[in-house]
Amino acid sequence: QNQHKVAVMGASGGIGQPLSLLMKQAPQVSQLSLYDIVHTPGVAADLSHIESPAKVTGFVGPDQLKASLEGCEVVVIPAGVPRKPGMTRDDLFNTNASIVRDLCKAAAEVCPKAFVAIISNPVNSTVPIATEVYKKAGVYDPKRIFGVTTLDIVRANAFIGEILGVDPREVNCPVIGGHAGVTIIPLVSQCTPSVSLPADRLKALTERIQDAGTEVVKAKAGAGSATLSMAYAGARFAVSLLRALDGEEGIVECSYVRSDVTESPYFSTPILLGKNGVEKNLGLGTLTDFEKELVKGALPELLASIKKGEDFVAKN
Ligand code: APR
Repeated sequence: QNQHKVAVMGASGGIGQPLSLLMKQAPQVSQLSLYDIVHTPGVAADLSHIESPAKVTGFVGPDQLKASLEGCEVVVIPAGVPRKPGMTRDDLFNTNASIVRDLCKAAAEVCPKAFVAIISNPVNSTVPIATEVYKKAGVYDPKRIFGVTTLDIVRANAFIGEILGVDPREVNCPVIGGHAGVTIIPLVSQCTPSVSLPADRLKALTERIQDAGTEVVKAKAGAGSATLSMAYAGARFAVSLLRALDGEEGIVECSYVRSDVTESPYFSTPILLGKNGVEKNLGLGTLTDFEKELVKGALPELLASIKKGEDFVAKN
């Protein structure tokens, strides 16, 4: 127990560095492997001076990719490229899709039993990409591949905490569906403590949660998208996986996984985590009419994003 090896893939980035810092401080981690195509020796040297027991090793470039994954039980993937001027959404998709495909190919070969937590966007497509790669490698286990949507829950909790005037750590609002725009579905009716808002305020809260990424992009004014809050959310999710690995019972996190609770083959819902990953999909619960409409509205975009991911692996 408390002796786990974790890899962060894309560890030198805006998300990767603070995520690595948080994992270095997690008591469950004894070895931390940092992989990136640049700067990981420096990031690892820097983090290794922190007085926590986890041993940090930096791996840089494709030649060291497989070595970085050796013996890892949890692989967290925030690698990707930000959108640059002149780059279309499709260019960005193809680049991030290739990165996730290649990292998952290596993980499927070197540590096929590891839990994989994917942060690289678009998560609605990159999780299906990971699945197809693991299937091709013959080691696919739907219980072990997770899309990290935790930031949506964290944001919902923070915003609802503000509204109720309570400590956000006491708020727990499930957010289901996918991880982009209208596919993000906050289930405010299932929030604890309960929140009761008039329809217009509920709509505004829902839209704020759905558009929260854009709120950060605008505030950063060209300097990128959410990194610190995403790192916090990624670390919260990874620590939940580690606690479940240690046999702790009752750990629940919402995550975008292979699913049969809706018509969409991938869907985020609250998941009971266990030693083998997904122990039980806790499903949708009882939805209000407003929430049912949100699910209906999310399905076409989800299905299209999933198909885009699956087609990418079939063609590339
Ligand atoms: N293998 C590993 N790491 C890579 C690769 C690769 N093939 N290609 C790029 N990277 C690294 C970059 O070198 C960089 O250190 O991924 C890191 C990405 O960091 P940033 O550019 O700062 O991007 P960030 O803001 O962290 O976002 C990363 O997460 O939320 C998503 O949409 C976001 O997909 C993006 C990803």
